Amino acid sequence: MNTIIGKDLNKAAGLLSSGNLVAIPTETVYGLAANALDEHAVRHIFEVKKRPPSNPLIVHIADAKQIGEYASAIPPAAFLLLEKFAPGPLTLVLPRKAIIPDIVTAGRPTVAIRIPAHPMTLELLRVVGIPLAAPSANPSGYISPTRPEHVARGLAGKVGYILDGGECTTGIESTIVGFEGGVPVIYRQGFITAEDIRSVVGKVKEYSGTAVHAPGMLASHYSPHTPLVLTDDIEFEVVKNRSRRIGVINFDRYCRMIPMNQQLILGSDGDLHSAARNLYAAMHEMDEKGYDLIIASKFPPIGIGPALNDRLERAAATKI
Ligand code: TXA
Ligand code: MG
Repeated sequence: MNTIIGKDLNKAAGLLSSGNLVAIPTETVYGLAANALDEHAVRHIFEVKKRPPSNPLIVHIADAKQIGEYASAIPPAAFLLLEKFAPGPLTLVLPRKAIIPDIVTAGRPTVAIRIPAHPMTLELLRVVGIPLAAPSANPSGYISPTRPEHVARGLAGKVGYILDGGECTTGIESTIVGFEGGVPVIYRQGFITAEDIRSVVGKVKEYSGTAVHAPGMLASHYSPHTPLVLTDDIEFEVVKNRSRRIGVINFDRYCRMIPMNQQLILGSDGDLHSAARNLYAAMHEMDEKGYDLIIASKFPPIGIGPALNDRLERAAATKI
């Protein structure tokens, strides 16, 4: 199969309605989409990504008003969050309706739903008129894609069409929120923080400990092929590994102990949002260089810092 990168919405819509996969842009990361109501098409997503069948998918819809078609028993807090953050990087886990096939939810009684904020994909969702199941468009466990070329490199020959919506502006995945007794619980940290949610609903339970709320949130994930260490002392790691070929991913300043061409800076002056936008592209770029080791600096634990550290911790975890 040839992989084409293009901007033809009608072509993408035609492929999706006839049961094919299309990579789609969202504001967070690129997704690998199929008709969420077509079990056969969805099975193909799992095959192409080599994704464990126990890891459920997010269903993308065009408008918050459609949510009742796919989910039931929606708590008032969910509507408040939708009003504030949809379209946007927020995924809600809700009791599912029977129209959603088992394969999408991995047999669970809940379904994850989100309204992406990318204008091209919102238009696509309106044109196709079907909900789209879409995980991130990377081979399972690898770094998520934030540019069409990242998708092409990871899934070349396995997806026919990549809808080119440019670079993702948010850069890390949506925040996943479930509900316990009507109170929001964060299952996966993301661009929308606990503080953002608290400011709307008043209460939020923060995910803590080692329990896996969102299946598929494995210790090792988002990982480059090159080993990666995460540190809050870049200089120490650089000295310790001076006999090896190393690349450094810094937050907002260069490390003076190695050449600048072995380093990438993600943001300037403590800007965590631009760091989020650049993080995965930097990991892809460093992974292409064939270094022995990538050293990445920890983000400060404010705002979306913890969500970014969560991704880097999983990228650094040993694969099992
Ligand atoms: O920003 C995003 O969320 C991107 C874009 C493409 O929308 N998608 C994304 O999908 O990150 P994926 O498949 O890489 O991650 C989806 C996560 C998984 O960790 C999965 O376990 C969780 O969503 N999930 C899906 N359905 C769930 C459910 N019913 N209950 C709990 N977690 C669920
Ligand atoms: Mg993913």
